[in-house]
Amino acid sequence: MSTSAILGLQWGDEGKGKLVDALCAEHDFCVRFQGGGNAGHTVYPGGQKIVLHHLPTGVLHSGCTNVLGSGMVIDPIRLIDEIDEVEGRGFKLKDRLIISDRASITTPLHLLLDSGREEGGGKIGTTKRGIGPTYADRYDRIAVRACDLIDKTSLKEALERARAVRASQINKPPTVSDMLPALLKAGERLKPYIADAALVLCEAVKENKRILYEGAQGAMLDIAYGTYPFVTSSHTLTGGIPAGIGSWTDVKRVIGVSKAYCTRVGEGPFPTELPKAEGDRLREKGGEYGATTGRPRRVGWIDLFALRYICKIAGVTEIAITKLDVLSGLGDLKVGVGYEGYAHPGLPADIRAFSALKPTYKALPGWKDNISAVRKPEDLPAAARSYLRFVEEFVGVRIGLISVGPERDAAFVVRGAPKG
Ligand code: GDP
Ligand code: IMO
Ligand code: MG
Repeated sequence: MSTSAILGLQWGDEGKGKLVDALCAEHDFCVRFQGGGNAGHTVYPGGQKIVLHHLPTGVLHSGCTNVLGSGMVIDPIRLIDEIDEVEGRGFKLKDRLIISDRASITTPLHLLLDSGREEGGGKIGTTKRGIGPTYADRYDRIAVRACDLIDKTSLKEALERARAVRASQINKPPTVSDMLPALLKAGERLKPYIADAALVLCEAVKENKRILYEGAQGAMLDIAYGTYPFVTSSHTLTGGIPAGIGSWTDVKRVIGVSKAYCTRVGEGPFPTELPKAEGDRLREKGGEYGATTGRPRRVGWIDLFALRYICKIAGVTEIAITKLDVLSGLGDLKVGVGYEGYAHPGLPADIRAFSALKPTYKALPGWKDNISAVRKPEDLPAAARSYLRFVEEFVGVRIGLISVGPERDAAFVVRGAPKG
């Protein structure tokens, strides 16, 4: 049985979509288990750019069945737009898309609640896709679920239940009659895809299908282990997989994705963030603008201390390093190896303690050559190989994949440490 997961190890946007796309040809199922339209996974099938938000990247592979697990929060209106876009580009989804009947549905109430919170005090810098409020309703047991979309009475009741609790928190809340028609229409359209996804995945496991779990966001945005409260509202780590698909799964290969440097969008601490001028240079070089919101991403050096901790708790079996090409020609490079006066092996839970961390760095020599056309580890410049070796030795997990460009084929497998 081949079960693999691709998870972000930083604050999202590590290049997960690109790697999932590169590995989908070897898988029968591609499964999202958490998050929703906050994700922005950029892929270039056949050279054309597509940004996927809800849909698993396997939609771009005709041999792949795609599952939106029960752990997801789904905005049905945006999902339909996405389906239309993908199908319009020639990737037909008939019989290869399954939406869990238990997934939570984002309604206009959630979008308004999210924007309202962001515009009030305590800004998180969310994507304003209604993610936090939709998850809040799930745990408050007042959620609208995908199964409700296909039954007018259930949908009406679910909307009434949610509105009764949330209306007082919203300036000019929409009525149930305002919301019902568009959601019912969306339900009609999505009906062929809505099913018991856990059962489908259990059967797939029994039949030895090859399953790839596609993480969204990143470890440092995990609701429990990220930089709380500056996090997203789902479990982005490996533990989120069984909970988010509704059945037990033994993931053999856990590929943790990290950029060769680091980025973050939104508010919250970022110890290795670069000062403005240096940051601007790396941002431009790496094209670091949000795939969902277009916001400029904050940029900094890779934080190996954080990476080591995250790999440990997430059970990462191999690391994929992306955007190595972006570091070419930058001169000396730095990697975060710890924090001043900090002796604990893990990261602090408390946000004030986390915000006070002052990183310590190791400087490593950079390289000048453009490496975008490299497809074998031994063809990388010596300094790039030493950079990767340092990462691997510090973190204690092998680097299994290296990506040197946004295109599907601009990645290669590494068997063992790249030799110096
Ligand atoms: P995701 O959310 O983790 O899937 O990542 P995003 O798509 O939000 O952001 C990653 C960005 O980097 C996208 O624009 C990708 O096309 C691009 N990208 C991915 N891998 C590489 C790489 O190795 N080199 C370069 N230059 N760009 C890459
Ligand atoms: P992918 O899958 C980067 C960030 C937001 C904000 C915080 C909470 O493309 O890596 P939310 O809307 O989830 O309530 O926002 O999380 N965030 C992401 N940052 N990539 C993402 O997804 C993100 N999804 C959410 O910027 O700081
Ligand atoms: Mg992204």
